[in-house]
Amino acid sequence: MTDQYAVIGNPIVQSKSPLIHTAFAQVTGQDLEYTKLLAPVDGFAAAVDAFRKAGGKGMNVTAPFKLDAFAYATELSEGAKLAGAVNAMKFEGDRVLAQNFDGVGLVRDVVHNLGCPLAGKRVLVLGAGGATRGALLPFLAEKPAELVIANRTVGKATELAAIGAAHGNVLGCSYEALAGQVFDAVFNATSASLRAEMPPVPASVFGPNCLAYELAYGKGLTPFLQAAKAAGVTRLADGVGMLAEQAAEAFAWWRGVRPDTRAVIEQLTVPLV
Ligand code: ATR
Repeated sequence: MTDQYAVIGNPIVQSKSPLIHTAFAQVTGQDLEYTKLLAPVDGFAAAVDAFRKAGGKGMNVTAPFKLDAFAYATELSEGAKLAGAVNAMKFEGDRVLAQNFDGVGLVRDVVHNLGCPLAGKRVLVLGAGGATRGALLPFLAEKPAELVIANRTVGKATELAAIGAAHGNVLGCSYEALAGQVFDAVFNATSASLRAEMPPVPASVFGPNCLAYELAYGKGLTPFLQAAKAAGVTRLADGVGMLAEQAAEAFAWWRGVRPDTRAVIEQLTVPLV
């Protein structure tokens, strides 16, 4: 029987996961079907129970259910524990194994696809919400010289820095405190782009040969990327590679084979203009 997987969310029409995993299954010769599952906002557990009962093998989880999935899981990976959120589940009998691959997907995109090693570099992350929390340990595992987290609500940035302190050199601060600092890579992990807004970052943060990375995907030249471009940055990226890489991590975890992501990234890329 063809193995069943799904992505669960609300809304879910926008999800590219079925397209991505179907492409991965084709190139790796895996016999699986991957669908979209719309669940009522208060109906996560019931929807997952039904999917498992029907023989479902695993799921991706998107908004607003990443915390529900965290609560639903019976075994959380270290990454999921630290992120406080789950984006992939694997069902084995009564066991619900849970992971969060968003951060590792981001780092893999940066280091492997974009050819931008973070070791020894000064790295700035804007925002201290769920996206930054998920990326914290994967970033620090690359051993940057310093990881700076800047946030509007400074307390959230310093809280994340305190969590990361055991794993590397990390500091939380305000946007004002960035004046006079220069970085090799700047990541916009705020949700500001979703409203076409821009965190108040001084143009001077973008160093020579800097990478400017917008975690949001498919929005073209966002205000953040525009500001980076205006500051002279030529290495601009959005989250399309992160999306493909987190999917590849989940696929490898479920199926034991890691698909190449290049074709999917090419297919989903929206030009940064
Ligand atoms: P996510 O899970 O996508 O990270 P979140 O947890 O709601 O979403 O976090 C959103 C992040 O974007 C926060 O860091 C938020 O800053 P605050 O913690 O100060 O609220 C940041 N953010 C959202 N809109 C912003 C804006 N217009 N300017 C600067 N930061 C913004």
